[in-house]
Amino acid sequence: MNEIIEQIKQLKAEKSAIILAHNYQAVEIQEAADYRGDSLQLSILAKEAKADIIVFCGVRFMAETAAILNPGARVLLPVADAGCPMADMITAEQLREFKAQHPGAVVICYVNSSVEVKAESDICCTSSNAVKIVNSIPKHTPILFVPDQNLGTWAAKQTGRNVIVWDGYCPVHHWGLTLRHLNEVKAKYPGYKLLAHPECRYEVLELADMVMSTSGMMNYVAEHDEVILATENAMVDYLKYKYPDKKIEALSTAAICQNMKKTGIEDLLLALQKEQHLIEVEPQIAARAVACLDRMLELSR
Ligand code: 13P
Ligand code: SF4
Repeated sequence: MNEIIEQIKQLKAEKSAIILAHNYQAVEIQEAADYRGDSLQLSILAKEAKADIIVFCGVRFMAETAAILNPGARVLLPVADAGCPMADMITAEQLREFKAQHPGAVVICYVNSSVEVKAESDICCTSSNAVKIVNSIPKHTPILFVPDQNLGTWAAKQTGRNVIVWDGYCPVHHWGLTLRHLNEVKAKYPGYKLLAHPECRYEVLELADMVMSTSGMMNYVAEHDEVILATENAMVDYLKYKYPDKKIEALSTAAICQNMKKTGIEDLLLALQKEQHLIEVEPQIAARAVACLDRMLELSR
């Protein structure tokens, strides 16, 4: 392991590369990375990076976002088929039909979407700014929200806005973190604060103490103890590794994103050695998708 880490360090320096890792990556990947974060933080870091190569340890939509925000860097996704099932739940064609059914509506797309869907959308959002983005839309303008029904519903309830949501969802949060888990775990750990990711169903979110992005959870745990996390399990692994004396429980230890788990330390090394797998986006699509992302980044300052 140490030898692999040494090789990674050497290649990074030789090739002027940086490694970004999402908070759901395995502990060893997060430790090998230069920066960790949630989707919004990593988008900003990618945009501002001065490196020639950005190795993105996460899933495809994240690497695509980095590639279009920083066209001067070559963005590599270590495992080519690390995708996001929720992002695949709507195509650009389906979004065009959805828009045709609701003329005059503004389209907000969750960053967990393909670059083609972003190109068809007006403004992007992430789990940490969805409420703010919904609030930024003029009061009487109808809003379409794709693809996550749960984040869209959560943002609608928080803002009191009428939001028409697409019926996509994250299988890990939607099916893997349920009311049954919540009742069992809350009974087992009375007094613990429940932090939930807004990709969970509304029935879970309304019983949570706080709803936040993955980095929101990281920051909260840095300052507090006795928490239950309703999100992908790698967060629990990483936080337990970082704070071995804190009491951190998972709402369900079975809530695992198989796509986030595809990247191992050897894949990261190979990505740097072979400069694989390069993310390429058609320039016309990229230009439209960047406009959608930039509107979000402008509001997130
Ligand atoms: P965050 O932006 O909160 O890190 O969420 C990304 C994600 O894919 C959650 O499933
Ligand atoms: Fe996609 Fe869910 Fe995995 Fe996040 S946890 S990358 S939303 S499948």
